[in-house]
Amino acid sequence: MSRPAVVVDDVAKKFKLFHERHDSLKSTILSGRRARYEEFWALDGVSFEVREGSTIGLIGENGSGKSTLLKCMARILLPDRGRITISGKVSALLELGAGFHPDLSGRENVYLNASILGMSKKEVDLRFDDIVSFAGLERFIDTPVKNYSSGMYVRLGFSVAINVEPEVLLVDEILAVGDEEFQERSAEKFAELKRSGCTIVVVSHSLDQMRSICEEVVLLEHGKLVAIGKSGEIVDKYLGHVRDDRRAREAEERARYRALVPTDEPAEIPLVSCFELLDDEGHPTSTARSNDPLTVRVTYDARRIGEPVRVALSIYRTDGAHVVSLNTGYGIAMGEAGEDGSVTVDYRIPSLPLQTGVYEWSLALHDTDMLHIFERAERLRFDVTPGDFHDQRGLVDLGGEFVTRGSVS
Ligand SMILES: Nc1ncnc2c1ncn2[C@@H]1O[C@H](COP(=O)(O)OP(=O)(O)OP(=O)(O)O)[C@@H](O)[C@H]1O
Ligand SMILES: [Mg+2]
Repeated sequence: MSRPAVVVDDVAKKFKLFHERHDSLKSTILSGRRARYEEFWALDGVSFEVREGSTIGLIGENGSGKSTLLKCMARILLPDRGRITISGKVSALLELGAGFHPDLSGRENVYLNASILGMSKKEVDLRFDDIVSFAGLERFIDTPVKNYSSGMYVRLGFSVAINVEPEVLLVDEILAVGDEEFQERSAEKFAELKRSGCTIVVVSHSLDQMRSICEEVVLLEHGKLVAIGKSGEIVDKYLGHVRDDRRAREAEERARYRALVPTDEPAEIPLVSCFELLDDEGHPTSTARSNDPLTVRVTYDARRIGEPVRVALSIYRTDGAHVVSLNTGYGIAMGEAGEDGSVTVDYRIPSLPLQTGVYEWSLALHDTDMLHIFERAERLRFDVTPGDFHDQRGLVDLGGEFVTRGSVS
């Protein structure tokens, strides 16, 4: 076992929340009254260790304390309790362009930034060309950075942060900002830093990325560490929390809706008796390969509804990303019902255009004007496994193909 590069021991950080009153600061001072505030703990008793040379991710919903923790590690903030010990030279990339001076040129900022990170002028001279070319900003290096786009800021900041040869690198939510090509080069650079033994602590909302680049992940909730472990397991756990929260919210909404629209019908027996996925051979399934055929089957009690029904389906990825919503576009007439009063509708997908991941189907039965919902079914979870075309990432499979030929003159 290698020794820990970072030790976070019972770290707590509180902030003051000021409640604005409508008097000015001047009148507050003059009148001798204090501004009213309450304190809250943005971090509360967080402890963990990061092994030297490993990459650890911090995840959690907005405001859970991830950036505050990174800032404490970078000594930008001091904890109110506990301590953080870091062995090795720390380089941090925390906020968009943090540490850049807007009126100085890119070149001047590189020198300024690198010297703050502990490099001598000579060392920067040697590395300068690498830094600029990694950022791809040769043409703009003598332009004041206030004229840079946000992507350019990040490229330069990232390039300095990784080229000072850090032993511990702290990165907050930066990787999502650059364009695809820059992200790819950053990922390569990350891999290179990892190989050279650099310890990396990274915050990102891109859970796929966390899964692939981190060995371990810490899950924060309201400033408390609620889980730490293998990245895949913790990301799944977090997605489970997100899903449960959403379900609870939806149940609450439904309850509110029912309270608003009283109905004589006892709603104990669901109107939907079947909501399932079928594979190519018509067997029920909960997984599908990218590009394979898939059918969604819905059976509902049309007789009890007593009017035409518009069937609406949606797909969400379990991190909340909305993939698609669609509906029949017309109300399915009562006349479609079989002898038992039920209607079965199939939605057939010839080639599933989704990439690997965990998704959920949702189903709602509406009236023809989509003003009233007769019933919403429990969400149906399904896993999409890789198809034949592996070399792609993201949400959808566009189903395109590459065709190469000589240049056309
Ligand atoms: N300087 C500050 N003064 C007062 N409150 C602050 C300060 N910095 C952060 N907070 C509060 O502390 C809590 C944690 O914030 P933090 O920025 O660490 O969250 P986060 O997990 O990084 O969220 P996000 O995913 O949105 O980036 C939030 O409630 C935030 O409003
Ligand atoms: Mg943050």
